[in-house]
Amino acid sequence: MYRTHYSSQITQELNGQRVKVAGWVWEIKDLGGIKFLWIRDREGIVQITAPKKKVTPEIFKLIPKLKAEDVVAVEGVVNFTPKAKLGFEVLPEKLEVLSKAESPLPLDPTGKVKAELDTRLDNRFMDVRRPEVMAIFKIRSSVFKAVRDFFYGEGFIEVHTPKIIATATEGGTELFPMRYFERDAFLAQSPQLYKQIMMATGLDRVYEIAPIFRAEEHNTTRHLNEAWSIDAEMAFIENEEEVMNLLERLVAHAIDHVRENNGKELETLGFELEEPKLPFPRLSYDRALEILSDLGKTIEWGEDIDTEGEKLLGEYMMENENAPLYFLYRYPSEAKPFYIMKYDDNPEISRAFDLEYRGVEITSGGQREHRVDVLVEQIREKGLNPDSFEFYLRAFRYGMPPHGGFGLGAERLIKQMLDLNNIREVILFPRDRRRLTP
Ligand code: ATP
Ligand code: AMO
Repeated sequence: MYRTHYSSQITQELNGQRVKVAGWVWEIKDLGGIKFLWIRDREGIVQITAPKKKVTPEIFKLIPKLKAEDVVAVEGVVNFTPKAKLGFEVLPEKLEVLSKAESPLPLDPTGKVKAELDTRLDNRFMDVRRPEVMAIFKIRSSVFKAVRDFFYGEGFIEVHTPKIIATATEGGTELFPMRYFERDAFLAQSPQLYKQIMMATGLDRVYEIAPIFRAEEHNTTRHLNEAWSIDAEMAFIENEEEVMNLLERLVAHAIDHVRENNGKELETLGFELEEPKLPFPRLSYDRALEILSDLGKTIEWGEDIDTEGEKLLGEYMMENENAPLYFLYRYPSEAKPFYIMKYDDNPEISRAFDLEYRGVEITSGGQREHRVDVLVEQIREKGLNPDSFEFYLRAFRYGMPPHGGFGLGAERLIKQMLDLNNIREVILFPRDRRRLTP
């Protein structure tokens, strides 16, 4: 290996010892009799110091010829000295150029020259070299680890369901059609029907982390055409509150995990992530409409709360309850999909909820209708044909326990957690209306 240590692993105990470091040229400084080279690796920066009298003539001549973003490997001796900006330096005995970078660069990885998001995404390989961008993807990785750990701890089993499917589940957003040999098929908008079918198997508690595909026509800062969904479904629940309880603990666990393990990345982003307080406030749909009405915004009962309404509520909850995270629940049945259970004593109201983070929906979920005759009726009410759902309905005819679950959008969660402006910041290669490459 060209590397024995990352920059961050060079500690005082290594003083006087030989190490190998490798990475991209960050900066070069030529002071005549002494040359400096700063190399950036995944964990930080390391300074290479080359005084004329202490290094070979080849190394001394090579350093000024290096260009920003060349890939280099250095073998040398660690020297802790207060003279070095970072507290230590490496005196090189070997310097190898592993790859040259053309110039001009498509982007400035030091971030001194600002670039438009489009240019950044076109050159994502170089964009991610910027410490602020790399920090986001390290945090994203942490979030996924935290989510998996949480589900295992709660006795969930990971499942994988098909992404080529025959029917729509989520009204409102469009499907991507495709040809499947002689038939028409679609890319999955959600694992909804399959995770529910899993409840008839006896696996009891399942989760899936996978892409969802949605043909959103418009460019927004919170919609992607390919997003990663964290889906869960659990059986033998008595009400939707049990699902909300699991979800809030999951989200709090993910935030705590980032706070505990990504201090360096949060610092790089200059962001203070607040400690989540459990339980998250629960705001009924009716109460939300009242608050909005007081704020001068009228929403007809039964309608979905639109983007502006969500934003207003987000501000209200922050100002009045100091709550970045809160549930909206007891939604009107007409605003929710067919698979959601209605209250038996008040069928206008459903057992659906959304989880909001700084005024943006990050999750939808609820208790499902498991009584097949009621479910068939609800499919009809939404103007859909129960025949096309037969493969799903079968699972309800031979013993289906009461169940519920949720879909948590990973990009929405991370965007809102870090209070970023655009969802494209948190996915490596966003798919939107215009982007199919890289
Ligand atoms: P869900 O799929 O559960 O509804 P979502 O967050 O994607 O979750 P939508 O229902 O798609 O939410 O939309 C919520 C609100 O966001 C809509 O009422 C609308 O105001 C706004 N919105 C949704 N899609 C778009 C879009 N493509 N362009 C502009 N605004 C949109
Ligand atoms: P819903 O349609 O609300 O519910 O989606 C669940 C969550 O997925 C995320 N999400 C998206 N993220 C980025 N870009 C998109 N285009 C996009 N669309 C959705 C959001 C949203 O809250 N089957 C139900 C879930 C359930 O009831 O279990 C569903 O799909 O964070």
